[in-house]
Parts: sequence; C-alpha cells; structure tokens
Amino acid sequence: MATERTLSIIKPDATRRNLTGRINACFEEAGLRIVAQKRLLLTEANAREFYAVHKDRPFYRDLVAFMISGPVVVQVLEGEDAVARNREVMGATDPRKAAPGTLRAQFAENIEANSVHGSDSPENAASEIAFFFAGYEIVG
Ligand code: CMP
Repeated sequence: MATERTLSIIKPDATRRNLTGRINACFEEAGLRIVAQKRLLLTEANAREFYAVHKDRPFYRDLVAFMISGPVVVQVLEGEDAVARNREVMGATDPRKAAPGTLRAQFAENIEANSVHGSDSPENAASEIAFFFAGYEIVG
C-alpha cells in the first residue's frame, strides 16, 4: 500500500450544522491525517470549474448553487490508500445507499446535500488538491 493524498470538501450542509469537528474525528479515527485545511466561500466560478466534469448532467446547476450556499472546508487527507480509504469513510453518494456508519449515512441530508466530497482517483486527487492548495500550505 502506498501513502497517498486526497482532496476532501466538507460541504455547506455540514458546516451549517456545525459538523466539521465530528467529520474530522471520523477521518482521524480511520487513519487519515489532515495535512491541510481551510474554510472558505466558493465563488460561482470556482464551483463551476471544480465540478466542470458534471457540466452536462441535469444536476449541475443545482449542485453549483448548493456549493456556494455557505462555507465549505477544503482539506487534504493523507494516509495509506487515502483515496479509497476516504471513499469508504464517506460511503455512497446517495445517503440512502450509504453503508451504516459512513459519513453520508450519518450526516447527509440527500444526494445533493451529502456533507462531503472526496476525490475519486489518485489522478483527480492531484488536480483537485492543486485547485485549492499551494504546495507550501500542505504540511505532512
Ligand atoms: P460529489 O462527490 O461532490 O460529486 C458530485 C456531486 O453531485 C455529488 O457528490 C452530489 O452531491 C451531487 N449530485 C447531485 N445529484 C446527483 C446525482 N443524481 N448523481 C450523482 N451526484 C449528484
């Protein structure tokens, strides 16, 4: 197994309910180390660009509106197989399909307001991390 980094976003539905600390505790209990973190408001341009891969999907417009509706916490998680490990911790995109105990099963409100985002591959992790962080902001 390799030490990897992945991008995580704690979404507006979760920051609104003051869940950042509980979600971070789940990452740490799963062996993921938070090596960079900042809370910010995405601009519409940021959100459109970050989710550009979904631009032709019917949910794109609503997704962008949701992601700019409140603060997000963007973070870099580091650990063994961090991309896959984080996806296990998050659970399925749709909380109705998420395994018990996963973040989305515990906290998500619905498929859009699903509390967390995580990169889906090491390649996407690298580009998503670079979208939000300069190298000097990541301290392993
Ligand atoms: P995320 O992992 O951030 O990646 C894209 C997001 O689109 C996803 O989580 C969901 O929050 C959101 N989304 C909204 N509707 C859908 C849908 N029908 N299928 C997949 N993702 C959706």
